[in-house]
Amino acid sequence: MKYNVEYLKIIDDILKNEEVKKLRLYKHHYSYTRLEHSLSVSYYSYLICKFLHRDYISAARAGLLHDLFFYDCENKETRPKNHIKSHPLVSLENANKLFSLNKKEQDIILKHMWPITRKTPKYIESFVVTFVDKYCAFREWSIFCIFKSQLFGVVPVLQVLNLYHLQYL
Ligand SMILES: [Fe+2]
Ligand SMILES: [Fe+2]
Repeated sequence: MKYNVEYLKIIDDILKNEEVKKLRLYKHHYSYTRLEHSLSVSYYSYLICKFLHRDYISAARAGLLHDLFFYDCENKETRPKNHIKSHPLVSLENANKLFSLNKKEQDIILKHMWPITRKTPKYIESFVVTFVDKYCAFREWSIFCIFKSQLFGVVPVLQVLNLYHLQYL
């Protein structure tokens, strides 16, 4: 993805942080790394908030930090049992140790799993990030599922069926 210059300036210090860089080491939604996922959420949230004339800086920065946790969340044996609900707080605690976050950025990180976690987001920017996160997760899962179905021959079979269908049009 090609990011615009303004966006890169907004997240520059976060992206250069050694702890944040470690997100490259973790798979996220099977087909991406956690850093790639976080960058997608951050960039789309930035674009949407800029379009809506909202606080795109907080959306971009908190979007990049929303999944700042350091364990394999795809391994059911080793991840915390309540990972889905607990990781926003873990991410917020980690982000607070590294950066000075404003109230909106804290709300964005803490509420990004809404409505699974019950507390309703306080800001429009928090809603934007939570919806963008779900969109990105769905897209990343879909890529993984398509790849997997290719492996098991489902897509080639569907392609053959589609061709079979087309010859009767
Ligand atoms: Fe998350
Ligand atoms: Fe996420």
